[in-house]
Amino acid sequence: MELPLFVVLLSCLGALTVARFSFFLIKYLYIFFLRPQKNLLNYGRWAVITGSTDGIGKALSFELASLGLNLILIGRNPDKLREVNDEIKSKFPSTTVQNVTIDLSRDLTDGVRKLEEAIHDVDVGVLLNCAGVSNLNTSFLHELEEDLLMTQLRVNLESLTATTAAVLPMMLRKKRGTIVNIGSGSTVAIPSHPLLAVYAGTKAYVDSFSRCLHAEYKSEGIHTQCQVPLYVATKMVAYRGSSFFAPIAEEYAKSAVRFIGYEPRCMTYWPHFLQWCLATLVPDFIINHFRLQHGLSRRKKS
Ligand SMILES: NC(=O)c1ccc[n+]([C@@H]2O[C@H](COP(=O)([O-])OP(=O)(O)OC[C@H]3O[C@@H](n4cnc5c(N)ncnc54)[C@H](OP(=O)(O)O)[C@@H]3O)[C@@H](O)[C@H]2O)c1
Repeated sequence: MELPLFVVLLSCLGALTVARFSFFLIKYLYIFFLRPQKNLLNYGRWAVITGSTDGIGKALSFELASLGLNLILIGRNPDKLREVNDEIKSKFPSTTVQNVTIDLSRDLTDGVRKLEEAIHDVDVGVLLNCAGVSNLNTSFLHELEEDLLMTQLRVNLESLTATTAAVLPMMLRKKRGTIVNIGSGSTVAIPSHPLLAVYAGTKAYVDSFSRCLHAEYKSEGIHTQCQVPLYVATKMVAYRGSSFFAPIAEEYAKSAVRFIGYEPRCMTYWPHFLQWCLATLVPDFIINHFRLQHGLSRRKKS
């Protein structure tokens, strides 16, 4: 008996959908759970980390030390830098750790000079740009204090650009290196981030900047990546505790190092990725409405 054409077409479509979904599932199961980590020492013996005194940057510093890299920690607070330096050296005695004090929200002329001096004689293979600032209390743009607005632009965007430009020439000479910029899922996984417009805008810059650098320098042996996490329970989002979807920084950092050297843009923590996949099924206007209400409720509380 011959089947009607529409039944045959529907069956083909169904089979194709199942095949596509299976391929997607297998690919991401491999990426998240089976793919081997790159040997980061192949890029160079040293890593430079901004935002190393707290949260994600601090946790990543420990991860890199555990892999045998020596560290140049950048931070604005010398006491906090010293504390992190001591903690890392007591846990990993063979690691050499240098501190460079730079306030990334100020004029960067001196800071860049200090960084250039610090990296002059060492083989820097990894640059992690983790420093970041957000307005903890959500607000409309016209309510945002100018100081906080400018600090976000300087730390999230200007300083990230300047540190990258300072480290790149050394990587170019060696023809190897990897740059990891921490962007945000708020710019790729959801259509908007109302009441955090400046923060989200700076992170969109980080995403675009990273992808351009990757295209520019890939052939020179320099890999650039933008990681786009969703919530991670750090002081930046102090109103939120840790949960299945909001890991502590140490847990996030473990997932983050496994992705270094792979996709130019990635969400490294699998429950974040799951959230991202689910968000694609929801129409933009519903997410925008939900995000705005969430922002407004936090604004009232503040
Ligand atoms: N937490 C999240 O949910 C989340 C989600 C997506 C993306 N991100 C991004 O992840 C990165 C790390 O954030 P986090 O959650 O780890 O935040 P965090 O715990 O607040 O850490 C931010 C780091 O940046 C440093 N920093 C801030 N202002 C600075 C300045 N003027 N000069 C030098 N260093 C400065 C901080 O130094 P101090 O120790 O002196 O404060 C700290 O080391 C940021 O780029 C953030 O945008 C975070």
